[in-house]
Amino acid sequence: MKKILITGASGQLGRSFINNVYGKYHILGTARNLVDGIPFSEGDISDRSFITKIIAEFSPDIIVHFASMTNVDKCEMYKSDANKVNVKPVEWILNVYSGYFVYISTDYVFDGVNGPYLENDQKKPINEYGRTKLKAESLIQSQSMNGLILRTNVLFDYTVWTGASFVNWLVKSLKNRKSITVVTDQFNNPIWTTDLANILIELIEKEVTGLYHTGGDEYISRYEFAKMIAQNFKLDASLILPISTGELNQKAKRPLKGGLKTEKIEDVLGVSSPSLEKALKKIISSE
Ligand SMILES: NC(=O)c1ccc[n+]([C@@H]2O[C@H](COP(=O)([O-])OP(=O)(O)OC[C@H]3O[C@@H](n4cnc5c(N)ncnc54)[C@H](OP(=O)(O)O)[C@@H]3O)[C@@H](O)[C@H]2O)c1
Repeated sequence: MKKILITGASGQLGRSFINNVYGKYHILGTARNLVDGIPFSEGDISDRSFITKIIAEFSPDIIVHFASMTNVDKCEMYKSDANKVNVKPVEWILNVYSGYFVYISTDYVFDGVNGPYLENDQKKPINEYGRTKLKAESLIQSQSMNGLILRTNVLFDYTVWTGASFVNWLVKSLKNRKSITVVTDQFNNPIWTTDLANILIELIEKEVTGLYHTGGDEYISRYEFAKMIAQNFKLDASLILPISTGELNQKAKRPLKGGLKTEKIEDVLGVSSPSLEKALKKIISSE
């Protein structure tokens, strides 16, 4: 059985991925907070000795690097931390490891003026999170012949452990009859973490390298997405009120017309992008 090291194992995508690869690989997860039920090594990825020691001891065949500072406003406020967590570890990993390396990037490497984007469209991040993710991509492209960079956008899940997820927040608010505001001017093609995990597993099994985009089959605003979730969960969508991104006065700028075109990955895998509607139905039927 191949050995796979999964950083960011406690995150939204990390957990879904582990659920889907469990039993197929010899797994070691890492994050600062323990994940029950899998072999796990607790530590901070921004500590060079921690990551290099794990790689030396576990000697993975594959590294899937999910760990990242994902709070976009915090990245803007604490730029040095964002670089320590999002960029440096990639450099350290590639210094000591030359096996198959999988990195998850984002549509935030684009400015969001003309999305959805193709892989080779001009990159122009407008916030620190996007800049750090792009720096990590560049390191991989310059140092690793054996790397897969998979850009994705707006991940969603609905499970007990994804406390910060958009779907959890929305469903919980509407169930409590709490009115919420959601932006009408940010567009992406959201993807369910389980669908993304399955795509990743296929790419890993084929040892695909290079740069790919992935996302769901619908290009919609966050507001339309919120309404769609409410309708599927049979909750009162009138509690969702429209707001513009500018009105939120967030620390970091947001790309507005983001999202990713997925023709290249569809060609390689021979399947179309996962359906957003079907993902929501599957989530509800498994409740
Ligand atoms: N969520 C999205 O919509 C989205 C969209 C595009 C791309 N992505 C990318 O997809 C990947 C997974 O995202 P996600 O939504 O699963 O993120 P997430 O839920 O925020 O999880 C982030 C993971 O990184 C770990 N981490 C953060 N700082 C760390 C540190 N200093 N040391 C060790 N581990 C650390 C966290 O664990 P601890 O806090 O326990 O340490 C957690 O396991 C990320 O690379 C992200 O940039 C996400």
